[in-house]
Amino acid sequence: MDILVQDKAHDESRQGEALLLKPVNEKQADRKLYIESYGCAMNFSDSEIVASILADNGFETTADYNEADVIFINTCSIRENAEQRVRNRLRDFTIAKVKKPGLVVGVLGCMAERLKAKFLEEEKLVDVVVGPDAYRDLPNLIEQVDGGQKAVNVLLSREETYADISPVRLNSNGINAFVSIMRGCDNMCSFCVVPFTRGRERSRDPESIVKECAGLFESGYREVTLLGQNVDSYKWKPETETEEAKPVNFANLLEMVALINPELRVRFSTSHPKDITDEVLHTIKKYDNICKYIHLPAQSGNSRVLEMMNRTYDREWYLERVDAIHRIIPECAISTDMITGFCSETDAEHQDTLSMMDYVKYDFAYMFMYSERPGTLAAKRYADDIPDEVKRNRLKEIVAKQQEHSHQRLLAKVGTVQKVLIEGFSKKSENDYCGRSDQNAMVVFPVSENYKPGNYVNVYVDRCTTATLIGRVV
Ligand code: SAH
Ligand code: SF4
Ligand code: F3S
Repeated sequence: MDILVQDKAHDESRQGEALLLKPVNEKQADRKLYIESYGCAMNFSDSEIVASILADNGFETTADYNEADVIFINTCSIRENAEQRVRNRLRDFTIAKVKKPGLVVGVLGCMAERLKAKFLEEEKLVDVVVGPDAYRDLPNLIEQVDGGQKAVNVLLSREETYADISPVRLNSNGINAFVSIMRGCDNMCSFCVVPFTRGRERSRDPESIVKECAGLFESGYREVTLLGQNVDSYKWKPETETEEAKPVNFANLLEMVALINPELRVRFSTSHPKDITDEVLHTIKKYDNICKYIHLPAQSGNSRVLEMMNRTYDREWYLERVDAIHRIIPECAISTDMITGFCSETDAEHQDTLSMMDYVKYDFAYMFMYSERPGTLAAKRYADDIPDEVKRNRLKEIVAKQQEHSHQRLLAKVGTVQKVLIEGFSKKSENDYCGRSDQNAMVVFPVSENYKPGNYVNVYVDRCTTATLIGRVV
């Protein structure tokens, strides 16, 4: 059981959204691509890069896989159930292939990287397996399949950032966009498969990031979320340092993006507790358009468990970073990820997670039962010895606590005015708009002719549900 609360940037259990794009050149568009994405925001952002590479090679995207000549599934390996979901969905695609000979079925992303050519043995009807750093090779690989072969490219790279590719914005509301600022991860959290599926950490040229964000602003976008597994370790070094060309760290990059335009909101994800600096916090404070919201995954509230997880901080360090956030940016919202039932976690250690939650009173949290991943340090070193039932009960406890805290955080906003960027109609009714506050709370209020999606409005909050603020524009 996975539990999620709130927004897309951190929700690595998103699943099955098909993406749509228009071909660059109508005449070339003689083949149709269907692409479905699973996992974290980085994967969704990668699908936009894949769509862009294939658009340049004559592919038009379709939202109906029955019409497609090529079906890609962009996959996630983070927990076993994420992989299971992908395998189930793959059945639908391989059935489609039986009905339509010549249909190309490809597996992209983290599962492709983890399983490599083995995927072709396990799933006989899959034609292409491509890892996250090999998407430029897709047109060749498809050609290889057209020629009757199977094709695999799972080479990881130390350099690839796709910096020069302008992602095609797919299924977009034209207001929020993800912008990848780095790839890979050099941390070795013992539970985590990402360093194996995404390779070494590398940062993208800041100029290309600013150019992409400025372009988005010019086309009407009003919010960018800068993405990386550990944005605080963003580091760019120019080939030769001069007065103009200096190294750029995450605080510098945030400032560069914030300066594009005060009307462009800047969000970022994910921050790592070991790397988030006071300099970053002061930069967040300095600019009104950098959102006062930090996703700072703790994973556990107990120092022994954190050490086994190889998170490289302990409970005290984490709480000191939380205090620093509150000291420098008092209004800042904080969210977390938590894992229950990690190897050898005792009940007393689980209580430490609960007491940490009481201390921080997170605005949101994503909470998971530990799922052993083959090849990780934890799988090699430690027994996955907490029974599922215990993991599940601990999860239920932290979920119940988080629901209380989320509700308290929202209740504290009742009676205040929040600046909201309108994203579109609310899910429930076309009589209401919805959008998020600076602190990332969802806000719902009545539609009016005076404003539209993409506008900022001040909303007086008169009540809330457990997950949403409700109010009216003032
Ligand atoms: N880079 C981010 C997290 C990326 S993965 C960070 O360092 O915080 C997103 C979340 O999935 C993690 O924060 C963790 O809570 C969860 N997760 C990762 N591996 C897991 C596993 N093996 N079992 C359960 N949850 C896991
Ligand atoms: Fe995984 Fe840790 Fe890297 Fe996050 S920081 S992606 S949890 S190894
Ligand atoms: Fe993201 Fe899942 Fe890969 S969380 S990095 S798609 S393993």
